Amino acid sequence: MELQVVEQIAEVRQAVNGARQRGSRIGFVPTMGALHSGHVSLMEEARRDCEFVVVSIFVNPTQFGPKEDLNKYPRPFENDVALCQGAGVSLIFHPQPVTIYPPGFKTRVEVTGLSSVWEGAFRPEHFCGVTTVVMKLLNIVQADVTYFGRKDFQQQLIIKQMCQDLDWPYAIQTCATIRDPDGLAKSSRNVYLSPSERQSGLSLSRALFHVRDQIQSGNRDVLQLQQAMRQILDGTPGVIVDYAAIINSDTLAAATEYQPALTAAIAVRVGATRLIDNIELP
Ligand code: PAF
Repeated sequence: MELQVVEQIAEVRQAVNGARQRGSRIGFVPTMGALHSGHVSLMEEARRDCEFVVVSIFVNPTQFGPKEDLNKYPRPFENDVALCQGAGVSLIFHPQPVTIYPPGFKTRVEVTGLSSVWEGAFRPEHFCGVTTVVMKLLNIVQADVTYFGRKDFQQQLIIKQMCQDLDWPYAIQTCATIRDPDGLAKSSRNVYLSPSERQSGLSLSRALFHVRDQIQSGNRDVLQLQQAMRQILDGTPGVIVDYAAIINSDTLAAATEYQPALTAAIAVRVGATRLIDNIELP
């Protein structure tokens, strides 16, 4: 099937309705472009489940803080189209900001509580921008399954909560984090890193893998493990830690003792670049 690139909401609806009438299952991967193998793995997972896969490429201004990287966020559109083509995507939705936020737009979708901790504490308006645009995109595409990466752990949890609270009738699926061979989690922002910053960035996966390995070998001292994670990060030149915590994977509450469903989550700044990563603990 030939890849179609559209900018208008009505064109998405028409293409999706046509595919559904032909009996296809619809999969959807929302992105901000600057696609990498993490995104490709979401598209491939979508292709395994669905005959018709939609990818949105929209650098959503409302999820960037005033001092964040909206203007310099990479936009390699031609390369993105080629990656979508290679992954068997059927439709790219590439709207202009005015299509998503027309004059007079007044609505905010906010998931309280979960949005104000961890990432939310450092990026106050971020998740409200994410949930507002994701709710719009979900409504535009109305896919049977929509795919998000576990790399943005808090984001996928908040989106699932929003979908439950607002009776979204279709599935939301979270897919594994994809890493470079050296452990660095794939992120569109990795292109900002100089070679030495990239070396510093490896401390995130090193700290997370250390905690996972310790738990696997029987250490259940969550507070000590959190401290060990912090020491690895603090001991790495060029790394400034925003948080390094072991949290409950469902509530995001900081854990003080071992329990089922734990996630170790980290956010740091390396030079001007903010990096996040997390790992599900055994
Ligand atoms: O994860 C992202 O790339 C963005 O937050 C998303 C979900 C596409 C919303 O803009």
